[in-house]
Amino acid sequence: MNQIKIFAPATVANLSCGFDVLGCCLDTVGDEMVLKISEEPGVRITKLEGADLPMTTDQNVAGVAVQALLNTYSNKKIGVDIEIYKKIKAGSGIGSSAASSAGAVWGVNYLLNSPFTPQELVAFAMEGERLASGNAHADNVAPALLGGFTLVRSYTPLDVIKLNTPDDLVMTVIHPQIEVKTSDSRSVLKQNVTLQQAIRQWGNVGGLVSGLYTEDYGLISRSLEDVIIEPLRSILIPEFQNVKEAAMAEGALGCGISGSGPSIFMMSKGMETANRVAQAIQIVYNRTGLDFDIHISKINDHGIKILA
Ligand code: HSE
Repeated sequence: MNQIKIFAPATVANLSCGFDVLGCCLDTVGDEMVLKISEEPGVRITKLEGADLPMTTDQNVAGVAVQALLNTYSNKKIGVDIEIYKKIKAGSGIGSSAASSAGAVWGVNYLLNSPFTPQELVAFAMEGERLASGNAHADNVAPALLGGFTLVRSYTPLDVIKLNTPDDLVMTVIHPQIEVKTSDSRSVLKQNVTLQQAIRQWGNVGGLVSGLYTEDYGLISRSLEDVIIEPLRSILIPEFQNVKEAAMAEGALGCGISGSGPSIFMMSKGMETANRVAQAIQIVYNRTGLDFDIHISKINDHGIKILA
């Protein structure tokens, strides 16, 4: 087997309290990619549909991530051809670059009979994130590669943990059609936090992780709070507070910025609530005159999937 077609899922990073460390994987939104092992050394992007992104290998996140993998692979004679069919819009806040980087390294590793561990794949895919945003964060690539909910316990050394996924959790994500570059929305952040903010935030991270394991939806709900990043970034997102109020009034467990925005995520218990939340936020956004997409998705506990 020297070719594989895969589904590379969208992801929601941060999950309110876990800036750069928490993320989860979606099921209903994602790209498709075809990876081929070639006898011609080097990495090539041979097709790129659905987005206006660079096809030069060292300017393309999938190209850079696969190159990082091949740099540490024993056989220097092989090459990789990559086809990318983008469905996730760049700058949407649901892990568009991560899907490409993670999908590419996962597919190549599969074709090479899995010489690398999931942890190593996360490190290769992070090189794509470094290219996309100037920062090699793992909170989108980790859930794309491992599925479900993931926690980056440490970056140096890299230590990524897959958490439990309660069955009934459903995400509603609204994507306003404005582009917010991750690099821009990182530049509005402060480099220091107060001890008081840190205490509140790490209490919530612990609460959310515990709630996911004990499947305590009330605890999950109480923990979906961000006192550090959201106050600074939410001003970049039209109607953020009104969306949040409408979603919570319909029974969402929590609502926050998806990754670096502009998408907003709402977590609910059960599909019925997630659908009601979607209707409520649609009413809010209809008033803005902006185009938007709404995605409703269960948590994808598997991550990347083989299509052919
Ligand atoms: N943790 C990153 C950020 C995710 O919030 O900047 C980017 O998708």
